[in-house]
Parts: sequence; structure tokens; C-alpha cells
Amino acid sequence: MTRVFSGIQPTGEQHLGNYLGATRNWARMQRTSDAFFCVVDLHAVTIPKAPGEVRDGSLRLAQMLMAVGLDPETCTLFVQSHVREHAELGWILQCNVSYGELSRMTQFKDKSGRHDFISAGLFTYPALQAADILLYDTNEVPVGDDQRQHIEITRDIAERFNSRFGETFVLPEAVIPAAGARVMDLQRPTDKMSKSLDSPKGTIGLLDEPGQIMKKIKSAVTDNDGVVRFDPEQKPGVSNLLSILGAATDREPAALAEQYEQYGALKSDTADAVIALLEPIQARYRELEADPGETARLLRVGADKARAIATDTMDRVRSNLGLLDA
Ligand code: TRP
Repeated sequence: MTRVFSGIQPTGEQHLGNYLGATRNWARMQRTSDAFFCVVDLHAVTIPKAPGEVRDGSLRLAQMLMAVGLDPETCTLFVQSHVREHAELGWILQCNVSYGELSRMTQFKDKSGRHDFISAGLFTYPALQAADILLYDTNEVPVGDDQRQHIEITRDIAERFNSRFGETFVLPEAVIPAAGARVMDLQRPTDKMSKSLDSPKGTIGLLDEPGQIMKKIKSAVTDNDGVVRFDPEQKPGVSNLLSILGAATDREPAALAEQYEQYGALKSDTADAVIALLEPIQARYRELEADPGETARLLRVGADKARAIATDTMDRVRSNLGLLDA
């Protein structure tokens, strides 16, 4: 079976863009592949954070991933720092990637411009990401377009290691979802919906209440020509609503456009569809939230499954690299 691995940072609240663009697809993939999903807390600490924020963020994200349908019995769901091999392999891969290669990463250039304290870990972040992926002999990595460069560098690192030290790693491939699932900010529909934009009115949190969802969608930015048409270039706001409605109801946005003459009706149907989509997720989340001990238990099961594979890979790495047996 194809081995799939993806990681998600425990920062900010999960929103509709994360769900429709990524995690809903992960829930589908777990049934057809051998899927590993990881809460990457060690990546989150590349930007300094309060300890409570990291801990709560990891717990809440794990619970949200379970709520959206990642089933710890079907896939392997775990927290990165619970499997110590990630940090260990991360170091070794840092020694097999160059300063020049890391300097070309656009995510680093982007993030380092937005913070005052630029940690060395933020710079070497791609080596840790490569470790995440390579520890599990991963075939496919489902990620957004913004991660393409990180998967490329992972392949480069794996190829270099294999040619320096002998066959050790499987070369992974990025699988980028079709553009249809791209959810844009409701207020700035040319930007992807994102917590880091800090646009609360433009972002629908997965835990938003029905009233809030209705209000945000009703006040979504559209345009003045009054025609409902799916045309992301010319009509980004209206097209975003059509994409959201389409994703929530499993219909094609262009076909949906023909059913509407007015923005008002499109907006209220979109809001209703999103409210209905999120209702069972919110209900499951509330259940999990009430029982953190059960979440911790499920995460230990995930970490144990992951560790069993990671330690095998590390044995191979240590031996090929020439580290003395303990
Ligand atoms: N860098 C990814 C992001 O910002 C998160 C991530 C960490 C990841 N490790 C990974 C994604 C391994 C895929 C595979 O979204």
C-alpha cells in the first residue's frame, strides 16, 4: 500500500481553508493508503512561543484532526516530539543540506521577514521536515502548493544521502490537490484563507458558531456587477463563495453558478451549507475536548506505531552514516 505522510503545525485555529483544502482529503486518503499524519510541534517552536501555547495548540489540533475524521485506528496520528527520532534524523539531515540550498527556500525568506528573532531552527526547518517524511519510507506527501519547494529539497537531500552513504531513503513525491479546493479569504478573496493573515472576518474557524458563520459569509466581499459567474480571475469574491458551496455540497462551482441570479441567495445557501458541514465536526470536537485523557491515550497509540518504523529507519541511517554502535 502507498505510504502517505503529511504534517500540520499546531499554530492558530483550524479554519475552513485547512479543512476543504487539506484535512478533509486526508480523511479520505486514510482509507486507501497507509497514512501517517503528524502534529509538528517541533516545527512550531522555530518561532518562539509560550510553553502553554505549544501544549494547548498540540492537544487542540490533535482533537480537531480526530474530529474532522482522522481515525487513530485507521491511520497513524501522532505528535512529532513524541517520536524522538525526528529530532535525531533532523540533525543528521542538516549535515547533508547546504547553506545555499536552505537560503533559497521561499518560506524562510517569507517568515524571516515577519519576525524579529530569526532562529537557526527556522532556517534549518526543511531538514526537519525532510526527516519527518524520510523516516517513514514515504511515497506520497499531500501538501499545498506552498510546500512544493520543501518536498523538492527533501528529495534532493534523500538522493544526496543515498549516493554518499548507500541506498537508505525512499524518494517521496508531492501530491498537490486540484485547484478547486483553494478557499480564499472572505474579505480579501485574492489571498488564501489563512490564520497568519490575521483577518478574523475573512476566516471561518472550524469552531465558529452558526451565527458567526452566517455573518461572515453575508459580509463577504463580492463585486458590483451583480452577475453570478465562476471566474476566479475577474470575480474572485463570488467565485470563492461558489467554490466553498461546491466543496461543501460536492458540486461543481461553475454548474452552481447557473442556479443563482443574486449574491444574497448565493451567500445564504453557502452559509447554510458550511454550517451543516461543520455541525458534526463541532459535535465530535466537543466530545473529545471533554476527555483529554482519551486523546492522550490515542496519541500514545499513534506514537508507538510511528516509532516502530522510525527506529528501523534510524538503525539503517546510523549504520550507513558510520555511527559507532552503542
Ligand atoms: N511545513 C509544513 C507546513 O508549513 C508542515 C510540515 C512539517 C509538513 N513536516 C511536514 C508537511 C512533513 C508535510 C510533510 O505546512
